[in-house]
Amino acid sequence: TKQYTPFPKDFLWGGATAANQIEGGFGEGNKGLNIADVLPGGTERLSVLSEPGFDFEIDREKYTYPNHDAIDFYHRYKEDIALFAEMGFKVFRLSIAWTRIFPNGDEEEPNEEGLAFYDRVFDELHKHNIEPVVTISHYEMPLNLVKNYGGWRSRDVVTFFERYVNAIFERYKDKVKYWMTFNEINSGLMMPIMGLGFSIQNEEDKYTPTFQAFHHQFVASSLAVKACHEIIPDAQIGCMIIYAPVYPYDSNPENVLHALKEEQLFNYFCADVQVRGEYPAFINRYFKENNIELDIKDGDLALIKEHTVDYIGFSYYMSRTERKEKTNEEKAEGNIMSGVKNPYLKASEWGWEIDPTGLQVALNQLYDRYRLPLFVVENGLGAKDNVDVDGPIQDDYRINYLREHIEAMGEAIKDGVDLMGYTAWGCIDLVSASTGQMSKRYGFIYVDKQDDGSGSFERSRKKSFYWYQDVIATNGANI
Ligand code: BG6
Repeated sequence: TKQYTPFPKDFLWGGATAANQIEGGFGEGNKGLNIADVLPGGTERLSVLSEPGFDFEIDREKYTYPNHDAIDFYHRYKEDIALFAEMGFKVFRLSIAWTRIFPNGDEEEPNEEGLAFYDRVFDELHKHNIEPVVTISHYEMPLNLVKNYGGWRSRDVVTFFERYVNAIFERYKDKVKYWMTFNEINSGLMMPIMGLGFSIQNEEDKYTPTFQAFHHQFVASSLAVKACHEIIPDAQIGCMIIYAPVYPYDSNPENVLHALKEEQLFNYFCADVQVRGEYPAFINRYFKENNIELDIKDGDLALIKEHTVDYIGFSYYMSRTERKEKTNEEKAEGNIMSGVKNPYLKASEWGWEIDPTGLQVALNQLYDRYRLPLFVVENGLGAKDNVDVDGPIQDDYRINYLREHIEAMGEAIKDGVDLMGYTAWGCIDLVSASTGQMSKRYGFIYVDKQDDGSGSFERSRKKSFYWYQDVIATNGANI
């Protein structure tokens, strides 16, 4: 029986992860320390990094470090990739850990053991007809660059990054055809330590240092696009932003304008530079009012103009609702982006507001603005799973969340949006980026590892595994 599906026949269905959240393999194969290696588990995970005097040292007496063993993908990748293949994945999004290739970030020559590891992973994927989609930098900057260079504030980091991308493009030119530069680049505005490699110590840091670091990333992104096009002419390289559409709380024009300004700064500033190759007009006023003065070298703007991205990758978890004057009671919990509660939406156990329609809004907004192919490279529900059942974990809440978001993508395709694919976040349970928890699970595949680090690391298929398998097999007709 032939069923109707809005999804094009070469639609890229799959799942997404990041090296630091799955690999483990701490120190193995000469891997150097990165920022995720010093992130403790627990709710204070991100705030400790901003404490004055935090020295980025590992203190095992005081903290646990869930990323050190993560889910041990470093040793179990064959089994995991076989499970992805069983679900029918066309693509698998992963990141390369910069510190496996350049352990301290500033070496002259790459580390052969690290390069060889990803050769094995890409070969295994190809064995199962799965195309890798590779994020070059996903919240895992070499710690040496954080401690001794001040992260992306330093222009030297552009040179080190260029060396890194050249090494991986040369090495994997026959194996990887989909690339992305910086994961959620605009998150540097909310969590600078993760994206920009430095923590805000005072009010001033939010302005010139932050935007100087962004400028260095824009230059680095253009150098990566240039190198990718030269070395792998048949590859596509995209940007990657976190996109949460901003709704005005009501029709009060003050709130509408406020929401628009937030949308410009958070959702569009970085993408405008990476896609259109120019700093947007709206940022000039922001720079002026906050005394932001950038050191832009000769040739930077021409480079940025010339080497723009081929597609737009983005993560979508929630929308955000804004009003100009807000009281504390109205704040949406768990929302790192400081919105107010939207009375029409329910939230996840972690307070993330669930809004599938917002994904249709996002896809239309992005396509209207940029007219480039879009790729939803992250979306999913972090939830606790109950293992006390016979047979597979019954994760209908996860299925419902994903179903509604996939339907919203189908609607956007009907609206005329050019959508390349969809990679569900945390297709296998992994370490949460913001809390370090294992109990905040996203996977179709359960991993027996608990928040205290205990567990057998065994993998098992949840109900959603079989559901997603059918979604892919019918190209989105059966959801
Ligand atoms: C995105 C990140 O922000 O959200 C991922 O790119 C992250 O690395 C994901 O894991 C979900 O967030 P969390 O905090 O639930 O892991």
